[in-house]
Amino acid sequence: MKKIGVGLIGLGGIADFHYQGLKGNDSVTLLGIADANKEILRKRIDEWKVIVYNSIDEILEVEEIDAVHILTPSDKHFEHVIKALEAGKHVLVEKPVATSLKEIENIKDVAEKKNLICLPNHNHLYTAGIIEARKLIDEEKLGKIVYGEFFASGLLNLDNWGWRASLKSAGGGALIDSGTHLIYQALYLLGSCNKVKAMTKKFFCKIEGEDTAAVLLEHDSGAISCIVQSWASKDYFQTPEVKILGTKGQLWIGNSLYENRGLYFNGEKILDGWPIETTFTKAIDDFYNAIQGKRQPLSNLEQSSETLKIVQKAYENCLRKS
Ligand SMILES: NC(=O)c1ccc[n+]([C@@H]2O[C@H](COP(=O)([O-])OP(=O)(O)OC[C@H]3O[C@@H](n4cnc5c(N)ncnc54)[C@H](O)[C@@H]3O)[C@@H](O)[C@H]2O)c1
Repeated sequence: MKKIGVGLIGLGGIADFHYQGLKGNDSVTLLGIADANKEILRKRIDEWKVIVYNSIDEILEVEEIDAVHILTPSDKHFEHVIKALEAGKHVLVEKPVATSLKEIENIKDVAEKKNLICLPNHNHLYTAGIIEARKLIDEEKLGKIVYGEFFASGLLNLDNWGWRASLKSAGGGALIDSGTHLIYQALYLLGSCNKVKAMTKKFFCKIEGEDTAAVLLEHDSGAISCIVQSWASKDYFQTPEVKILGTKGQLWIGNSLYENRGLYFNGEKILDGWPIETTFTKAIDDFYNAIQGKRQPLSNLEQSSETLKIVQKAYENCLRKS
């Protein structure tokens, strides 16, 4: 069977994870890569030995490329995704899919009109612990869900923040960037949410947006959840990312770096840990399975809209208070 031709657009930090994820997939072949930065392209030619293109327009002209991964800075996603869809390519786009809701709606419309798959890379949904947690919640093993906690912290003491330094190109700070992962997990496990309270602060990261955010959500089910994302503090204990409390049971999901990582139900480990790379591999497999019509993908653009709505409400909430 003919392999699906793939192009990677944007070859910065996250491109390595996509490259590794593609290598493990037998139904695809990497046909080209593109970046606006010639130095980065040169480095990748040596590393990956693949055809390079100097611009997104050039790579999108390649007929044999059926699908592209958009891995450019967040404010560029909209323009790049629309171009790719208009060129007839399926698209896997990094989170956050866009920095405005209107843009995501527009992307949904164009993908539908062109009958193409466009998925966000919500890779944390693919951790074994999250998938199993959702199953246990659906089976009502936890009773009524009371509370969820979604926590991630790391010390990002960078000298050069690149596009992440500016509110315009990043769309915000730590919350819209890394915090997006926490929010879509909260929505996936605890359901939709319309009530949002938030506090954001910048401690020392050299960026225009916040480096620390705490957000409280009330889900439509009545459950409360707390999202904490920081780039300003090293987490020595590598605290678990997710904790879910229900009237009958409790889940504790150790994050990807924690030595005791895994899924714990009522204090007992029921699933071993999973390295972060596997989440990219699985998200990428899911995208290509969806293209081949094999299964309904776990991530979708509706999650991206719901997540961005919460980010925006959180930012508005902070503005009203200050
Ligand atoms: N899923 C995850 O866990 C995860 C982790 C990190 C980053 N990301 C997301 O991935 C995206 C990229 O992040 P990164 O850390 O790799 O950024 P980066 O700055 O390391 O890389 C971005 C690349 O895009 C290129 N680029 C910029 N404008 C371009 C254009 N017009 N045409 C072609 N190339 C262009 C840059 O030259 C650079 O090589 C962001 O949206 C970010 O939020 C996701």
